[in-house]
Amino acid sequence: MTSAPAKPEVAAIVVAAGSGIRLGREIPKAAIEIAGVPMVTRSVQAMFSGGVDKAVVVAPEAWVERFSHFFPAYPDRVKVISGGVMRQDSVRLGLVHMGDADIVLVHDAARPLVPPFVVDRVIEAVRDGAPVVIPVVPQVDSLRRIRRNWTVAVDRSTFLRVQTPQGFEAQVLRRAHAQAGDKEFTDDATMCEAIGMPVMTVPGDGLAFKITDPMDLVLAEVIARGES
Ligand code: CTP
Ligand code: MG
Repeated sequence: MTSAPAKPEVAAIVVAAGSGIRLGREIPKAAIEIAGVPMVTRSVQAMFSGGVDKAVVVAPEAWVERFSHFFPAYPDRVKVISGGVMRQDSVRLGLVHMGDADIVLVHDAARPLVPPFVVDRVIEAVRDGAPVVIPVVPQVDSLRRIRRNWTVAVDRSTFLRVQTPQGFEAQVLRRAHAQAGDKEFTDDATMCEAIGMPVMTVPGDGLAFKITDPMDLVLAEVIARGES
């Protein structure tokens, strides 16, 4: 009798160590409440609802202790650690503290309304054999390329907007970070691409938008109140 293959373990690194300069609040962006629940708590909840087994939350250094009280529903499944100067540093520190896992998701705490079905979709695609998976949505605005003092139209259908969580075979993401050195990358998928890995896309969702400017916070509040 052959036994079923063991279910791969899925870890999430939720990066929440940014200060949220563009929001301009006193407290770090990830600690801001949306309809009474901190952004980072919502993000971690979405990871678990979507099939993640354990999470490392990367917090601003001075906020590690406070963040550790943000996840009472998951006392044994969440580890809170201190982040780095750049997002890339925070992800690397998350990898150091993550422990063993077969699949890793990297998620922005600043995308607190990501639907669990997007999380599940990313995990399934990695489980099915894609080493690097990103959720994407179409570009809805027209785009123009800047050429010195004029602009030219570009075909927007050839562009996609990238969301998180991004999913990886754990070994691939570890290798990409080990080889990145001091070079800066916009995201982890791009870092994996730099070591020759193909990047697969799955459909993202409008609700996975990133809270960046004050207006995004207003929108998130309205949506979250509508859902509760
Ligand atoms: N992030 C992080 N560590 C950093 C910088 C950013 O963990 N050194 C995280 C943020 O907490 C956020 C995600 O990366 O969840 C995406 O970054 P962004 O939206 O730019 O957030 P902030 O850097 O906090 O915002 P701002 O750029 O306006 O300061
Ligand atoms: Mg930033």
